[in-house]
Amino acid sequence: MSAHLQPATDGASGRLRLVLASANPDKVAEIQVIVAEAAGDRVELVPRPSQVPDVEETGATLHDNARLKALTLCQATGLPAVADDTGLEVDALDGAPGVYSARFSGPDATYTTNVAKLLDELQRRGALDPSRRRARFRTVALACWPDGSELVAEGALDGTIAAGPRGQAGFGYDPVFIPDEGDGRTLAQMSAQEKHAVSHRGRAFRALAAGLASSAAGRLR
Ligand code: IMP
Repeated sequence: MSAHLQPATDGASGRLRLVLASANPDKVAEIQVIVAEAAGDRVELVPRPSQVPDVEETGATLHDNARLKALTLCQATGLPAVADDTGLEVDALDGAPGVYSARFSGPDATYTTNVAKLLDELQRRGALDPSRRRARFRTVALACWPDGSELVAEGALDGTIAAGPRGQAGFGYDPVFIPDEGDGRTLAQMSAQEKHAVSHRGRAFRALAAGLASSAAGRLR
């Protein structure tokens, strides 16, 4: 587990309202639940206005992409904004797909084709034993304000890539990711609450929400 915070310079008091950059409904639903549980009504995340276009993720790192998305939205709306970027890093694939997790199987990638390519690549490299299928999800969550100040948090989840997909819940690579902090089920076999409790995104956004709640209360200056 890791969670790392850089202090915000925001000194506002009262309820903090931020625009959420993600347009992925799977992620938005997860993030809103996690932040509501962590910060209650001190922080409100509102969806991205439909007229603001999607930002292309051209950064070389998760941090670059999170900042790019948050800054673009902040500039477009004049409001504080929150963005995140997540990658799956597989040791036997030298850290791939990493920052390219969404497009691993090409420009028309779907969750299913990405999972199929991941399993194929591991098989191709002879990484069949669980000990050769170590991986982690990493999330960088970043809030920025129109004055240029930022708050950054990270979360990670270690685990193993399963031999094949199991479970219907979650999204993305969840059906093939078996977290170390579990009982052998994949993330797609867990309830949303079970996943949030251990997940990379849960950890990053709980850390971010704690920082935002402090910021909203005027404790970070
Ligand atoms: P994003 O850039 O944060 O949207 O994430 C990139 C890709 O990583 C997504 O398209 C998913 O395929 C995958 N991904 C992100 N978060 C998760 C997760 O919590 N579980 C499984 N896959 C995920």
